[in-house]
Amino acid sequence: MNYHVLTLFPDMIVSGLHTSILGRALEKGLISLDTIDIRDYSMNRHRRVDDYPYGGGAGMVMAPGPVYRACEAAKARIPDGNARVIYLTPQGTVFRQDMAREFAKEKHLIFLCGHYEGIDERVLSRVVTDYVSIGDYVLTGGELPVMVMIDVISRLIPGVLGNEASADSESFENSLLEYPQYTRPEEFMGEKVPGVLLSGHHANIERWRRNQSLLRTLQVRPDLLKKARLDKKDLEFLRQVLQSKEETEPNS
Ligand code: ADE
Repeated sequence: MNYHVLTLFPDMIVSGLHTSILGRALEKGLISLDTIDIRDYSMNRHRRVDDYPYGGGAGMVMAPGPVYRACEAAKARIPDGNARVIYLTPQGTVFRQDMAREFAKEKHLIFLCGHYEGIDERVLSRVVTDYVSIGDYVLTGGELPVMVMIDVISRLIPGVLGNEASADSESFENSLLEYPQYTRPEEFMGEKVPGVLLSGHHANIERWRRNQSLLRTLQVRPDLLKKARLDKKDLEFLRQVLQSKEETEPNS
């Protein structure tokens, strides 16, 4: 996977992604990162890339020319000159795990980071293929959202996580939240690790973990249960939980 990021702050992207698991993936060549400084494509002698909005209003707008030329430069570095161009914006479709799986199938992805009050619509309509938001809140720019997307997509690429099993056993891959984890010591501040985890009985451990996942999802993200694949045992467990809840808090 080769990422190309169009940004006014390339250092932020480079330093943010050259650590930990992604740093190792970059070193191993499992992913590559190419940053393009939009300012390098300004024709202005002060390297300006923004201007006042037509029609008035607060803030500045990124001009179309530098963004368009930066995007052309990114495409010129890609063998067939073609790739999806993802623009990070609160006006986009909300990023989810299934979207990450789709993007992970590509060989090259171009990301466009906005700043100020946004980017001139005429360049967006010409170059952008996907408008993506990372959630219902407003950040100061697209750099952190791009790093979030690159992190999520990269961990789906074979070899990036040391342990291949973990990429799809975790939360959201099966629409359930993760079960709680424990490690040594066996007792911490008077609290013991749940006994079943020390039993060595694999079937019981698996059932306990599954029930914990169901319980957490029911409590925190009941909306996810609609999409989850649940079997008879899962449904029976949830029925019991809801029934005992009914008995202890009849009016809730
Ligand atoms: N830029 C500013 N806020 C954003 C968000 N929530 N998602 C993606 N890009 C953004």
